[in-house]
Amino acid sequence: MSAITERRIAVIGQGYVGLPVAHAAHEAGYTVIGYDVDDKRVDELAEPRSPIEDVTDDDLFKMLATGRYLPTSDPGHLAGVDVAIVTVPTPLTAGRPDLTAVLAAARAISDYARGVQLVVLESTVAPGTTRRAFTDALGDGQADLSRTLVAFSPERIDPGNAMWRFSNTPKLVGGTTNAATFAAAAFYETLCETVEVVESAEVAEMAKLLENTYRHVNIALVNELGRHAHRLGIDIRAVVAAAATKPYGFMSFQPGPGVGGHCLPIDPVYLSDAVERTGHPFAFVDLAMQINAAQPAYVVDRVAELLNSQRKPVNGSRILALGASYKAGSGDLRESPAIEVIERLRARGGEVFVCDPHADQLALHRLGLPTVDVRDLVTSAAATDLVVLLTNHPEFPHERIAGAAPLVFDTRDAFADAPNVVAF
Ligand SMILES: NC(=O)c1ccc[n+]([C@@H]2O[C@H](COP(=O)([O-])OP(=O)(O)OC[C@H]3O[C@@H](n4cnc5c(N)ncnc54)[C@H](O)[C@@H]3O)[C@@H](O)[C@H]2O)c1
Repeated sequence: MSAITERRIAVIGQGYVGLPVAHAAHEAGYTVIGYDVDDKRVDELAEPRSPIEDVTDDDLFKMLATGRYLPTSDPGHLAGVDVAIVTVPTPLTAGRPDLTAVLAAARAISDYARGVQLVVLESTVAPGTTRRAFTDALGDGQADLSRTLVAFSPERIDPGNAMWRFSNTPKLVGGTTNAATFAAAAFYETLCETVEVVESAEVAEMAKLLENTYRHVNIALVNELGRHAHRLGIDIRAVVAAAATKPYGFMSFQPGPGVGGHCLPIDPVYLSDAVERTGHPFAFVDLAMQINAAQPAYVVDRVAELLNSQRKPVNGSRILALGASYKAGSGDLRESPAIEVIERLRARGGEVFVCDPHADQLALHRLGLPTVDVRDLVTSAAATDLVVLLTNHPEFPHERIAGAAPLVFDTRDAFADAPNVVAF
């Protein structure tokens, strides 16, 4: 994996997915062009300052020092690359899949990457996108890409996961032709420990959507069951732990304040949208969406119930929210249910203070949220009516917070049992 190679790789999009791919390709000895349309992102990378947890400033420094990593917003640098990997966003616009960035990336390749032998789409897309819209856009530009091989390989990266990283998570690969599948598999074998080849790009595209929809649906199931368990006076966490003693046929999912990030709230729509085009609704996805989307409002109702038990209204109560990002150990605020909980509490008159040592503090201020430094947490907890744990960052001193706060609502099962700690 460490042999220096003459091959040049372009990674289009230098975000949560693209940067770890660029890092892995650099580690494998390739020369890597990190192309991103965002000039600010490119400047940050050149500084070097990493915008994500999985690639550190020091990693970037080392990559830049070898002269084999070039962050750039100039598509002219795509000329002469052998392989182009596309890792750009696939958001929803007005609730529908938006392929603008994917198609723009394909056009940049088709305009500038003359001679590119292999193009791989890693962004999450609906089945058929790689073969049709993406390949069509590759054919639009100046470069003759009629002989370029095109494949899909979903990104399975789990930001902040120290155990499952880009290199040791099995990489699924499906081409638009057999030759593309083999070429893409051979390429990823130089970056990853395990490559799983599937029969087509469509199988790989849909497998990624199944993975995330499976997670989304199961989280919705346990979130709904959690609400019922609370009404029945049964501890949902104990129920899940008990079911998990079964050694087969059951996988644990935990209830929480909802789902967030770039994947779970969005990817199932890519699948349901494709299904609905066949004239059939995707009932499971619709229901799971509805349940998970209502979870922040449920958390706010529980907070109101708890304050009420202390003869306090939400209006005017001081509430300390622990965590604003959508997952522990990450600063990613995209689609974060924690932000929705905080905004709903504020809308009901709550005086909410937020502590999130991972999130960009300026971004929190732009949302109008007063922040608390993690070093001042215990003092702040003592001066509040209620602490609500929304995202369980490892820096939080749970025991000391519980010792200081009058009341703690724990939506993440992170606090030890105590009379003032209420579980989800
Ligand atoms: N974040 C995750 O955990 C994760 C996991 C698996 C898959 N994915 C999928 O990977 C894809 C990328 O997600 P992400 O989280 O890395 O997004 P991101 O927003 O972190 O990064 C995307 C980058 O692409 C750049 N970009 C946008 N349009 C571009 C263009 N036309 N050309 C070049 N650069 C462009 C943006 O400026 C940004 O820096 C999405 O399809 C997402 O669903 C994400």
